[in-house]
Amino acid sequence: MSNQTSLAYRITSDGHRVRGDWANVPIADVGAGELLIRTSYSSVNYKDALAATGAGNVVRTFPLIGGIDVAGEVVQSTDSRFHEGDRIVVTGFALGEEHDGGYSQWVRVPADWAVPLPDGMTAWESMALGTAGITAALAIHRLEHNGLRPDQGPVAVTGASGGTGSLAVSMLAGRGYDVAAVTGKEHAHDYLRRLGAAQVVERPTAPERVRPLESARWAGAVDAVGGDLLTWLIRTTQRHGSIATFGNVGGHELSTSVLPFILRGISLLGVNTGSFSHQLRRQLWQRMNDDLRPRHLDEITRTIDFHQLPKAFDEFLTGRVRGRVVVRVNGAS
Ligand SMILES: NC(=O)c1ccc[n+]([C@@H]2O[C@H](COP(=O)([O-])OP(=O)(O)OC[C@H]3O[C@@H](n4cnc5c(N)ncnc54)[C@H](OP(=O)(O)O)[C@@H]3O)[C@@H](O)[C@H]2O)c1
Repeated sequence: MSNQTSLAYRITSDGHRVRGDWANVPIADVGAGELLIRTSYSSVNYKDALAATGAGNVVRTFPLIGGIDVAGEVVQSTDSRFHEGDRIVVTGFALGEEHDGGYSQWVRVPADWAVPLPDGMTAWESMALGTAGITAALAIHRLEHNGLRPDQGPVAVTGASGGTGSLAVSMLAGRGYDVAAVTGKEHAHDYLRRLGAAQVVERPTAPERVRPLESARWAGAVDAVGGDLLTWLIRTTQRHGSIATFGNVGGHELSTSVLPFILRGISLLGVNTGSFSHQLRRQLWQRMNDDLRPRHLDEITRTIDFHQLPKAFDEFLTGRVRGRVVVRVNGAS
C-alpha cells in the first residue's frame, strides 16, 4: 500500500494563479491522521468550485487535494474507535481547505473528524447530503432551538434551487413546514414544488429606496445567499421570527437597520458547519437518516464520474447548478 499512488485532483499555486489538475499522489502523502480511507464518493459544493479554480480565497496551503466532503471505507486505523471496513463520512474541519480532501482515491483523516455512517445510509446518500445536508440540518436545528414550529407560518429558503437550498426545502417540507422557495431560476419552479415548496417566490431585485420594514411574511428563513437577499429577509420577517444564515453567493456585505431587531424582535442566527460540537454533528447525521431525511434525494442529486469533476466547477461559479452533485471516486454502496 505504501508504494501505491492515489489519483487525485490537486490544487496548486505559482504565487499568482491557483489551478487544479490531476496528479498521482503517493499514498504516504494523502493527508495526515489515524484513518486511511478508500474513498467511495465525494461531492461538489460552491466552496469546492471557489477552491479548485482560485475564484475564492479558500485554500490555505499548497499543493492541496480538493474536496470538502468524503465518504468511504476505513482501510487502516491506528485509532481504537475505528476498524478496517468501517464506513465513515467526513465534512468540515477545513477538509479540502487546509487538509487534503475527498477528490482522491485514498485519503487520510484524523479519527476525531470521522462520523460512522448511520445504519441504513449508503455512502452515496451521505454524499448527496454532504456539507450541504449538514448545513441545512444545522440551520433547521438552530431555527427550531430558537422557537420555530410548523404552525407559525411560511419559512423562506433563499438560493432554493442550489445544493443546500434544495435540501433545506425538502427537509422543511418533510417536517410539515409551509416552505416558500426563493429562486432566481424561472425553470426551477416546478422542481421546487416537487420538493415540497408550497410557494415559489422570484428572487427580488434590490429596490431603489429601501424601507427598514416591509410587510411581515416569514416565520423563519434559511438563507444560502447573504447580501441584498438577506437584507430583504430581515425587512420581511415576522415578529419574533428567526433567520439562519450561512451563505455569501450574493455578497459579503450586509446593509440593514436595527429596526427589525428592536421593533419586531427578530433573530439572525449564524451557521458554520466547519467546526461545531461533535455530539451535535453525530446527532444531525442521525436526524438526516430519520426526521430530517430528504424525501427527494434522487431528484435533487446528479452523479458524475471522477474524470468529469473539472467541468462541474463552472456551473457553480455561474449560479447555474440545480441541486447536488455527487462524485463517484471508487464507487460502492
Ligand atoms: N457557513 C457554512 O458553514 C456554509 C456551509 C455550506 C455552504 N455555505 C455557503 O452557502 C452558500 C450556498 O452553498 P451551496 O454549495 O448550496 O451553493 P450552490 O449549490 O451553488 O447554490 C447557491 C444558489 O444560490 C443562488 N445564487 C447563486 N448566485 C446568486 C447571486 N449572485 N445572487 C443571489 N442568489 C444566487 C442560486 O439559487 P437560485 O437560482 O435558486 O436563487 C444558486 O443555485 C455558499 O455561499 C456556500 O459557501 C456555508
